[in-house]
Amino acid sequence: MRDLLVAAFGQPDEAELVERLRAAAQPWLALVAVGDGGILGQVMFTPVTLQGQPALPLMALAPLAVLPARQGQGIGTALVWAGLAACAAAGAHGVIVLGEPHYYSRFGFRPAVSFGIGWRPGLPEGALMAAELQPAALADAAGTIRFHPAFDGL
Ligand SMILES: CC(C)(COP(=O)(O)OP(=O)(O)OC[C@H]1O[C@@H](n2cnc3c(N)ncnc32)[C@H](O)[C@@H]1OP(=O)(O)O)[C@@H](O)C(=O)NCCC(=O)NCCS
Repeated sequence: MRDLLVAAFGQPDEAELVERLRAAAQPWLALVAVGDGGILGQVMFTPVTLQGQPALPLMALAPLAVLPARQGQGIGTALVWAGLAACAAAGAHGVIVLGEPHYYSRFGFRPAVSFGIGWRPGLPEGALMAAELQPAALADAAGTIRFHPAFDGL
């Protein structure tokens, strides 16, 4: 797993994030894609809270990674869809992601600001996104996201 994350991101930071999340975030959910005798891709989800709404069950999607030689073959897409279904089955109302809008919009992610959800100033326009796992699940979700402390410094 560590090798996959380092290869996909070209640095160890995300592999270390996964180790911190596994140790400290509960409950976490992860899916892997396997093939060619090894792990081809992985996606992880961990709880996030919305300031003022601690009871709203939200998950953060991070990190998502596919082995460079197998990128662009639909593995990331399959991992995200399966992960969103698993989060919904586990009772989450929504998922937050910090990433590329062109990629994540295909899964129903919209700019978090359109739900009134913010994080911190200085983010690239639209980079913080949210997806509802049930109709109108985030209709009253306005507030500031608090990621798990394991994300600090990433
Ligand atoms: C981003 C990533 C997970 C996508 O997985 P994948 O299996 O390659 O993607 P899929 O084959 O399912 O989908 C292909 C689409 O992803 C897009 N894509 C591939 N890499 C991308 C990247 N780094 N950023 C944004 N979009 C990317 C392709 O342009 C393609 O878009 P299109 O369908 O509009 O042509 C994978 O490329 C990866 O591991 N990248 C390095 C790590 C990373 O940046 N992770 C995302 C953190 S938010």
